[in-house]
Amino acid sequence: MSYKNILIAKENSIATITINRPTKLNALNKATIQELHQAFEELEKNYETRVVILIGSGEKAFVAGADIAEFADFSVEEGVQLAARGQDILFNFVENLKIPVIAAVNGFALGGGLELAMACHFRIASDNAKMGLPEVSLGVIPGYGGTQRLPQLIGKGRAMEMILTAGMVTADEAYRTGLVNHVVPQPELLEFCNAMAQKIMKNSPVAISKAIKAINANYKDGENGFETEIKSFGKCFGTDDFKEGTTAFLEKRKAVFTGA
Ligand code: COA
Repeated sequence: MSYKNILIAKENSIATITINRPTKLNALNKATIQELHQAFEELEKNYETRVVILIGSGEKAFVAGADIAEFADFSVEEGVQLAARGQDILFNFVENLKIPVIAAVNGFALGGGLELAMACHFRIASDNAKMGLPEVSLGVIPGYGGTQRLPQLIGKGRAMEMILTAGMVTADEAYRTGLVNHVVPQPELLEFCNAMAQKIMKNSPVAISKAIKAINANYKDGENGFETEIKSFGKCFGTDDFKEGTTAFLEKRKAVFTGA
């Protein structure tokens, strides 16, 4: 599969997706959202990939938002469709992916850009990153899950402030509120994300996918996270990874997981 707006590099079971529209600060147009969907879908099917790192091209932006030029003259119905389709094929899709996705926030993450970073399983920022949901300054509200995921991550009061003021926070402020897990100097960002991916890859891929599902269950309407946890916990007992993990521990050796 060849792509116009994204680049994919694979090394040692880690796939790095770079959103590559630097002249538009990697703004998410329709084509980019579609390409990202296809790329994530392919990577999930391809059992070789164990962790995905998502970054923006250049040193200025992760993603500066949804492409404003594309929706400036939309009708009410088109606005609904834009948000619904985007949430379905990209934002919810990434959140529910079986393999972990780390957002490497390497600059501006605004609007849809921050929403995309928040849909990832966790975020690591470079020290120059700036984050915000400035939609109300354009007369609209976040439409790719921002009003839901931001309060989940930083609490309702802080999310209200960020969204209602349309303000930006620095990487350090984002770290203090739990929006990002770590802040590192920009030249070290990818190396740091790769080291984090290596730590994740020492563990059972089956258990990791079930952990993602159980954690996400807490945030889904009509789902009881504790019950999802119980079922997923039980299913682990039927996997090769569980047999390998426990046997390796008892034999005092490192486990070699197959993901089965
Ligand atoms: N959609 C479409 N184009 C965008 C964009 C977006 N969200 N963000 C940046 N761009 C484009 C600019 O239009 C400009 O294109 P041009 O050179 O063809 O005119 C290019 O990217 C560079 O942006 P520019 O504004 O010149 O850079 P800057 O350094 O002066 O400012 C930002 C950087 C991020 C502060 C500014 O681009 C910005 O506010 N972007 C919009 C952020 C936003 O509101 N996002 C939420 C959208 S819902």
